[in-house]
Amino acid sequence: MLQLASGFTFDYDNLFGEGKVTEADVKSYEADLKKAHEAMKVMREKGFIKAHLSKDGDPEKVLFSELPYVEEGHLNSPSSLKHLQKLTDHVKNNIDAVVSLGIGGSYLGNRVLFDTYCGEFWNDKTDEERGGFPRIYFSGNNIDPRRTKDLIDQLKRLAGVIKSHKKRKGKILLLVISKSGGTLDTMSNFMVMYDALLKEENIELEVVAVTDPNEEKPTLLKKLANEKGWETYSVPDGVGGRFSIFCEVGLSLAACMGLDIESFLKGARDMDEACKTEDVWKNPAMLNAVLKFAAYKKHGRSIEVMMPYGDYLKSVSEWYIQLLAESLGKQYDKDGKEVCYGRTPCVAVGTTDMHSQTQQHQEGMLDKVVQFIKIKKWANDFVIPNVFPEAQKLADISGVKMSDALEVARQSNADALASNGRYNACFILPELTMYHLGELLYMLAMSVAYEGELANVDAFNQPGVEAYKRIMGPKLQELKK
Ligand code: PA5
Repeated sequence: MLQLASGFTFDYDNLFGEGKVTEADVKSYEADLKKAHEAMKVMREKGFIKAHLSKDGDPEKVLFSELPYVEEGHLNSPSSLKHLQKLTDHVKNNIDAVVSLGIGGSYLGNRVLFDTYCGEFWNDKTDEERGGFPRIYFSGNNIDPRRTKDLIDQLKRLAGVIKSHKKRKGKILLLVISKSGGTLDTMSNFMVMYDALLKEENIELEVVAVTDPNEEKPTLLKKLANEKGWETYSVPDGVGGRFSIFCEVGLSLAACMGLDIESFLKGARDMDEACKTEDVWKNPAMLNAVLKFAAYKKHGRSIEVMMPYGDYLKSVSEWYIQLLAESLGKQYDKDGKEVCYGRTPCVAVGTTDMHSQTQQHQEGMLDKVVQFIKIKKWANDFVIPNVFPEAQKLADISGVKMSDALEVARQSNADALASNGRYNACFILPELTMYHLGELLYMLAMSVAYEGELANVDAFNQPGVEAYKRIMGPKLQELKK
């Protein structure tokens, strides 16, 4: 078990030891770990990762490890936080609804922040209950005409209610997020919504654009923003989509929800500090990387099931899927040798998937590591009441806290898997706060960076997603004819 001073814990008892990944396995990677750790140091200091190139084949810096450090001259700085505060001040007690438009790295992290901070029923709360912050909707995460129509109708309905209750127009802000500024999924939804909402007499529409800030080679979105006078925030060079939750992609939405940005970044920063030690047993990211790497290479565990316990954590699992898949699923290594590397990620959530996937985890192929996330102390809890004393089975579970029942379920799952040679591990957050969330997500990001070095693959490119794009572009043009 590795525990940090913050209480963040990595419990790897069911992944390491006799009949699992062994001490000898870890030892066999001693030299590689040293090299990987050295590479992380260079990445932090210079933004350099050996053999990493951008999608245009140019040398590109890797800067995600700078993001937690809020310093003048850094990507996140006191002045950039001030600029974000401007967005907070603008939306609070003013904007009725924000629509966060984006896909992939420009969506997944924002969804995590919304789910963990706001929860499912945020939009149904009163203005007071939301602390004056707007309702939040998502779009652009698919090209689904039905969902887009439903969202437009919902926003029109909301504007109608505001008109009749407050005698004013509904104020909607489209937060359109695209690093490249031209992604079809995001921009098609944006254009459809912009067009539909602009025509609506009960709606006052605003746009804020989050995109590559380069003025010399502006993205389409940047150009539009300049022309139309929209406020802009940045997706800086050197920060790939899967790391962008720590830059203004995630932070701009955080600003619209009143989330404690500094605390989120402090969690990431403290985790980065913890990951600076070269002692693998004290460095959560390095330890997680080597145990999963060894489980894969030496024990055939090529699937990682990310299974947090708690509904609002499901999107953490979805965020992690992208992180693992895009970072490590690579056909060629850094020397150009074909390796077809990568552990396959899988989304699950406890207790829900114990009633479906667990059969496969428990008895299917011996090819998985099940990675749990546990919240030690829940902000809200219930003692299950004894409302049907005549029903013995129900009376038996009364008097138990829901959070304890949740943990007993998780622990039982872990024990059952371990008893049948099924590797599993658990990240434990003392509480579901933005600080601990920052710790967890940053540790996972740093962990794939370590594993990229161990496997000798570039963890920061994603050439595989270009293949379908090359086919799709001409097909779309064909459609227009
Ligand atoms: O990780 C990635 O790079 C992708 O998932 C992108 O974030 C996604 O394709 C969206 O790209 P963009 O932000 O350029 O619209």
